[in-house]
Amino acid sequence: MKKEFSACYDLVVYQIYPRSFKDSNGDGIGDLPGVLSELDYIKSLGVNAIWLCPIYKSPQCDNGYDISDYRDIDPMYGTMADFERLLAAAHEKGIKVIMDLVANHTSSEHEWFRQARSSRENPYHDYYYWAEKPLTNWRAEFGGSAWEYNQATGEYYLHSFAVGQPDVNWTNPKVREEFKAIVDFWVEKGVDGFRCDVLDHISKDFKKGMRRNGPHLHEYIKELFGRDHLTNIYTVGEAETTKESILATCGQDRKELKSVFQFTHFFVGRKGKYTPAPHRLDDVKKILVGWQRFTAKHDLLYILLTDNHDRPWFNSRVGNDGALRFESATDIATMVFLLKGIPFVYEGQEIGCANSHFSTIDAFNDVECLGYYKEQKGLIDEQKLLEQINFGSRDNSRRPFAWDGSENHGFTSAPAPWLPYATRSDEINLEKDTAGEKSVCNYYRALFALRADREVLRRGEWQQLKRFKRNCFVYLRTLGEEKILVVCNFEKAQKITGLPEGKLLLSNAKRRLGANGEYAPYECAVYDLK
Ligand code: GLC
Repeated sequence: MKKEFSACYDLVVYQIYPRSFKDSNGDGIGDLPGVLSELDYIKSLGVNAIWLCPIYKSPQCDNGYDISDYRDIDPMYGTMADFERLLAAAHEKGIKVIMDLVANHTSSEHEWFRQARSSRENPYHDYYYWAEKPLTNWRAEFGGSAWEYNQATGEYYLHSFAVGQPDVNWTNPKVREEFKAIVDFWVEKGVDGFRCDVLDHISKDFKKGMRRNGPHLHEYIKELFGRDHLTNIYTVGEAETTKESILATCGQDRKELKSVFQFTHFFVGRKGKYTPAPHRLDDVKKILVGWQRFTAKHDLLYILLTDNHDRPWFNSRVGNDGALRFESATDIATMVFLLKGIPFVYEGQEIGCANSHFSTIDAFNDVECLGYYKEQKGLIDEQKLLEQINFGSRDNSRRPFAWDGSENHGFTSAPAPWLPYATRSDEINLEKDTAGEKSVCNYYRALFALRADREVLRRGEWQQLKRFKRNCFVYLRTLGEEKILVVCNFEKAQKITGLPEGKLLLSNAKRRLGANGEYAPYECAVYDLK
């Protein structure tokens, strides 16, 4: 593997949703000085990179994924000086900083769009997609038609997401130059990488009805990131890739992206976004195994993740967030983060956060779930609809981080945060978690310390021990003489035998003799077989 790719195995990324992490100025909204004040906490987890969800100037119709100025910080989060202080402090602590790059759309308040919408002759008009009649019957991701009428030009513009997020026209070379300059602006400031929002959307084919993965996708990505000075910049794309198309995007000679997220396992346990479906952890395992084999075969980087700001908590859906919340959260973390790849931890995951239950729609902010609510209201019983929203809303994972059990959970000094605290914040908060014997956070610390300590867990080969087929995941990591065995039991207690014996390195259970024997539900253990 090329040096700049292989180096990525040393990363452990912590994703921050800035508005919900820590508020420093008492306005109820998290901010950059808040992140700065918690860098030691972040470092204590054993992570060495942070990904900041968008902090640029934005009207916030989609919480910052609608950017009105790519070169400035939203005042809600602080100033450019705050950002520079955070960047310098992070680097001093050995933490890399990854920015969110939203290249498919801008805010409708962006200067380009203000100009573009003013007249057909405006030089910026071509920065967006216009048509006298909607070219397709596409629905916007957040509800309604994807085409919005614009009085001044008598045309419709395309918005794949909210009305306030017009898609930019990447077929226009000027647009491509603009985004190259934006990337360079942040690289010159010293950032270490980019997480690229819905990147597969930047090439479309209206005639063929392709709203993503269009014919010029690879050409555009290469033009953006394939430049020599970006060789050591880390990139991860949010893109729907199949096993075939990931090769075209992340191949080491492609000069496109270092990695892309794979979300296939996010679909386990749900039917559509808002309805639960029967599932077992074995279903998740099967998907992970498929990707481990595929990425090994083609020497590709794989991202290890279960949570982000776009999903309700993984452990609430496919694990157990009740009596066995600790066991299930740590078992899932072990099975995922010791695979071969780059771990991404989403804020709150490390304290075992769980979904909320609210009884009114006022407790929600997510533009996507509000769009769904609006469309479904009156068609489905209100109670049922709220149940669906509680199950599927992205707000589940966007609620303010609960640092402690006080009234404001140590998040803000304001009487109320921008979004109500998770309904279980008295029970699930950092202070309480780490005070107890069963601490998800301390387990994460031990897990990442082990990963940092043992190169075999980062660069070693991965191999499943196949004879252990059901209700558990047993695998080996091997590098030269080093060999580590990972045993994760799933939902049901069972006896597991026939395993090689070794020295216990880590377990989420108190009593642990050897590798062979009884395993409680969600019990896991890691052994050194050297
Ligand atoms: C991505 C982001 C999501 C956002 C959408 C539109 O999926 O992760 O939060 O709403 O793109 O930018």
